[in-house]
Amino acid sequence: MYSQAKVIAGGLAHIPVVIAVFYFILTTFNKRALKFVEEGKTKKPEPKTVQPNKTAVSKSESSKIDTPKTESPKVVKKKHADVPVNIYRPKTPYEGTVIENYSLLKEGAIGRVNHITFDLKDSDPFLNYVEGQSIGIMPAGEDANGKPHKLRLYSIASTRHGDDFKGNTVSLCVRQLQYEKDGETINGVCSTYLCDIKPGDKVKITGPVGKEMLLPDEEDANIVMLATGTGIAPMRAYLRRMFEATEKEKNKWNFKGKAWLFMGAPKSANLLYEEDLQRYLTDHPDNFKYTKAISREQQNAKGGRMYIQDRVLESANELFNMIEDEKTHIYLCGLKGMEPGIDEAMTKAAEEKGLNWSELRPQLKKAGRWHVETY
Ligand code: FAD
Ligand code: A2P
Repeated sequence: MYSQAKVIAGGLAHIPVVIAVFYFILTTFNKRALKFVEEGKTKKPEPKTVQPNKTAVSKSESSKIDTPKTESPKVVKKKHADVPVNIYRPKTPYEGTVIENYSLLKEGAIGRVNHITFDLKDSDPFLNYVEGQSIGIMPAGEDANGKPHKLRLYSIASTRHGDDFKGNTVSLCVRQLQYEKDGETINGVCSTYLCDIKPGDKVKITGPVGKEMLLPDEEDANIVMLATGTGIAPMRAYLRRMFEATEKEKNKWNFKGKAWLFMGAPKSANLLYEEDLQRYLTDHPDNFKYTKAISREQQNAKGGRMYIQDRVLESANELFNMIEDEKTHIYLCGLKGMEPGIDEAMTKAAEEKGLNWSELRPQLKKAGRWHVETY
């Protein structure tokens, strides 16, 4: 039997053990807490990149986009960080003046497609842009709810130097949207507004936007272009940058690669910028290839309408030889509906070369070589 004195003595004997355990726990936690604080103190702050000044670009500099400034020399430059975006937003658009607005179609063509140029010289800050970007247009008037119309995007069809090479205009290539509904012809709001505007009219412009369709810097890049209808707009800017003599003097970009345009149009009379393209073929036969798919005049191997994807299949071998070269970029622009057809054609074309398109396409996208803008 334990006596009361023994119990007290036993309890007292455990006190040092309990103190030791508490001491161990406290020091361990303190050390960890200290380590955590130290880590927090020594962790390097995320380097901040200073955004390029999107608003303060002078007119004389409009063709040379500023290089972004960074606070630390170690900061890696973000790709395309120097491309201007959203200089003008819908709340404060720039009011540009229409310089010209003319039809791009020949007699017998289907629909209405116009080339429209706006004067940018009074924009302050200056509305500068690079090839492959788009601008927004806010059509005049109100929608069915009495609210101002929302902006619509249009691919820029001019180079940054403009059609007159003075560096203060922007041009678009616009098809009027028209469709039948319940026996009535419906005209698209903005595309009709644009096709109808006259020189001297003021138009609300936003942007520029878009970094998906930019050209690579390399002069020896190969550029494959797949366009339907007004999808030619960014391609026209690229081709002017590559082959238009005065433009080349301005841009100092000495394109040495191969440019291959696949162009889809319903009729020959609907081919856009055809005279310029023929001139580039004559002047630069080693650097430019032009393949047309005229859907309502030509037939594919199955007897159906000839689409650009049929032309892609016909050229599978040559095209994939180019794609295997890492200097080759592919640009797709125009009807959204062509995407599945192009994918199918690329799958078949790749198979003929023993390649798997569903694996290759994401690789090209990741490498920044597959560029798509469809609508
Ligand atoms: P809206 O009045 O807005 O009518 C369009 C609406 O009509 C559709 O949303 C749909 O609801 C309905 N609709 C359309 N077709 C039918 C049909 N067949 N049957 C029933 N309903 C129908 N366009 C160009 O012309 N050139 C360009 O370079 C160009 N670039 C673009 C770039 C980008 C990045 C994007 C996103 C679009 C581009 N577009 C371009 C398309 C352009 O933005 C407009 O969508 C187009 O002009 C139609 O606008 P809208 O105001 O005339 O038509
Ligand atoms: P089609 O209209 O004969 O079927 P545009 O914009 O001037 O009408 O030109 C668009 C061109 O793209 C036309 O030749 C049109 O042919 C063609 N097209 C239409 N749908 C597709 C598609 N799914 N894939 C590829 N091309 C297409």
